[in-house]
Amino acid sequence: MTAAISYRLATISDQDKAKDMLSVVNNAFLAEGWASARHFTKGDRLELKDIEGYIINEKQNIYIALSQDQEVVGTLMVEFKGDDKVYMGILTTKPGWQSMGIGGGLMRKAILDTQSLGYKTAEIAVVEGRGQLFAWYNRLGFFETGQEQDIYGDQFHGNHVRILTMEKQLTMTN
Ligand SMILES: CC(C)(COP(=O)(O)OP(=O)(O)OC[C@H]1O[C@@H](n2cnc3c(N)ncnc32)[C@H](O)[C@@H]1OP(=O)(O)O)[C@@H](O)C(=O)NCCC(=O)NCCS
Repeated sequence: MTAAISYRLATISDQDKAKDMLSVVNNAFLAEGWASARHFTKGDRLELKDIEGYIINEKQNIYIALSQDQEVVGTLMVEFKGDDKVYMGILTTKPGWQSMGIGGGLMRKAILDTQSLGYKTAEIAVVEGRGQLFAWYNRLGFFETGQEQDIYGDQFHGNHVRILTMEKQLTMTN
């Protein structure tokens, strides 16, 4: 656990950090690491306009993890959907800062915040076959729903991945 990391929603005043946030996201998906996405990712995951949108959009917000020096070291996008549900995605930890508790810190912060806003369910999507990542999300209280979906795009090897949906009931304490 890295004690000096802070976690908060990005606001309009963080627009000067948008490029750093983008760099964290796109480099994390291509990096080696305990939960590497390199085997299915081949290009940039997001563009600058996506990050800028999350900063100003009311329905899609982005959490940032900041080091003691205010360096962006992690991101997590939260989309507020209907039916008391939030979708969490774009969870990334900057290469070199992984396995220090930052990804878990971002998830726990977003879970606590959305719980206190009254949301009942948090949903995530995980590419099939990522066993260690599924186990980690299980430890955070997320479980597979049985829903699967094929996603197509240039950013994937073979232009295709299959994603599995996991959900956490925010009314439960785990
Ligand atoms: C997924 C990701 C955000 C995790 O971030 P992180 O900051 O490394 O995560 P944390 O340090 O909080 O957690 C590391 C966990 O992995 C475990 N771990 C560390 N090394 C491990 C290893 N070699 N094998 C298995 N588990 C390992 C730790 O014990 C810890 O588990 P715990 O929280 O239950 O104790 C990061 O790997 C990443 O950016 N990956 C690329 C982008 C991506 O795929 N995002 C997820 C999309 S669904």
